[in-house]
Amino acid sequence: MRHLISPLDLSTDELKEILDLADRIIEHPEAYSSVCHGKKLATLFYEPSTRTRLSFEAAMINLGGQVLGFSSADSSSAAKGESVADTIRVISSYADICAMRHPKEGAPYVASQFSSIPVINAGDGGHNHPTQTLTDLLTIRRLKKHFDGITIGFCGDLKFGRTVHSLINALVRYDNIRFILISPAELKIPSYLREEVLDEKKIEYKEVHKLEEVLPELDILYMTRVQRERFFNEEDYIRLRDSFILDAKKMELAREDMFVLHPLPRVNEIATEVDQDPRAKYFEQAKNGVYVRMALIMKLLNLEVPVC
Ligand code: NCD
Repeated sequence: MRHLISPLDLSTDELKEILDLADRIIEHPEAYSSVCHGKKLATLFYEPSTRTRLSFEAAMINLGGQVLGFSSADSSSAAKGESVADTIRVISSYADICAMRHPKEGAPYVASQFSSIPVINAGDGGHNHPTQTLTDLLTIRRLKKHFDGITIGFCGDLKFGRTVHSLINALVRYDNIRFILISPAELKIPSYLREEVLDEKKIEYKEVHKLEEVLPELDILYMTRVQRERFFNEEDYIRLRDSFILDAKKMELAREDMFVLHPLPRVNEIATEVDQDPRAKYFEQAKNGVYVRMALIMKLLNLEVPVC
């Protein structure tokens, strides 16, 4: 039985297989409409979510399966003090696969140790978010055709942004990737990523504080919101929240073939005027999340891929 806890749980060959399948689903969605007939997905969300939970549910429904779950810790027995280990033991007999989001780093991993169904990490604290990574990779590959040699700028809260951590971990496995890390000094990437991933693998990267000066170099700009819920005090959040705002004027500095991604939700970091720019791809990215989760569910349930 396979789980997806870290983006590195999938080899690059398996990643390719999932992205290829997602591309085929986009071409022929009808061919996949009953492959999960009789199967159930449980969504166990102890933290707020819009896209991740609903795209998981839409994915399972699109595959002909059914969904059950809860969308906040308050409405589950966690509020009564139940452990993740006990919850997953029980859910294992109610569903065939589950997606779990939790504010504590490592909670989905703990669940996977007690589960008899595949567990998918749908975001654990400031740590990882592997299915957002699949969404991001599918979007980048559809826009740029490959990963090798791209220069990607990550901008915003690189300290707490789990989507950034996961995507960096996944991308370092491709050739000649270059990162430009744009953040205030307080929100730089965690040192384990810098030392154990970027330095260790001799990845080319630079850390800067100004978006304008690096915009012309980028193939992809990955914007993120400042993660208010992970701050220890509100004053720091207020001071840092508007550090970077991408607007139409700044977009003039970017290349014609540079695309803007954002895992969403956006707060202030992308002015709504940018939405009109054909290079703004964040809503398309959110749409891709459904297809890639359909492909992932099929892979983890070991389902036969229809020929089409
Ligand atoms: C992200 C998350 O939950 O980490 N959202 C998402 O899943 N698309 C990003 C965020 O909340 O800022």
